[in-house]
Amino acid sequence: MAEPRVRRATEADIPGIRAVLAATWRDTYGAFLPLEAIERAIAAWHTPRVLGAELARASTFAAVAEDDAGIVGVVTARGRPEVVDIARLYVRPGAQRRGTGGRLLAAALAAFPGRMRVRLEVEAQNAKGRAFYAKEGFVAVEERSIEVSGTPLRLLVMELEPGAAGDRQDTSR
Ligand SMILES: CC(C)(COP(=O)(O)OP(=O)(O)OC[C@H]1O[C@@H](n2cnc3c(N)ncnc32)[C@H](O)[C@@H]1OP(=O)(O)O)[C@@H](O)C(=O)NCCC(=O)NCCS
Repeated sequence: MAEPRVRRATEADIPGIRAVLAATWRDTYGAFLPLEAIERAIAAWHTPRVLGAELARASTFAAVAEDDAGIVGVVTARGRPEVVDIARLYVRPGAQRRGTGGRLLAAALAAFPGRMRVRLEVEAQNAKGRAFYAKEGFVAVEERSIEVSGTPLRLLVMELEPGAAGDRQDTSR
């Protein structure tokens, strides 16, 4: 199948984005969160209203990866003075490990050419996410604890090492 195309997300993409988020959340977090907690989080955090507000925020960049069958990946990033936060990065199970996650990340970074630091949070038990970010050149700088629907989780705060593999400002890969 042709390589998914990365482009800016629009409001019309919200149903496709929701489908990617739901499938990827169940697949990723099912290993360490009760299904009920996952379904509650999906219902609260992935509503058309929440996603619509995120896409409309001037400080947010959102892109999707799309192939002939539809949207297979999404990234959102928020710009703050000097810092870019990668808020969401999801590639649908079955479309992973084909370079799409890397290209979505590169598109998000390219949208903030003046940035100084890139930060994100990844669940400590999410081995796939951690492997991906380590490969891109992110290192853990902090840890913090949260609760998702009553289940305690440990988050790693990661930052991109300057000059690392993922520290590029173009989308040519
Ligand atoms: C993390 C994620 C976005 C990467 O997307 P992707 O399209 O697979 O990424 P790429 O193809 O560009 O990069 C592949 C790299 O990711 C990591 N990776 C991806 N799938 C993996 C797996 N099943 N097991 C271990 N590492 C994996 C590896 O480092 C891999 O490099 P390698 O193939 O040379 O070992 C995707 O796996 C995903 O959506 N995971 C679930 C959600 C998530 O963890 N999001 C990030 C935290 S919020």
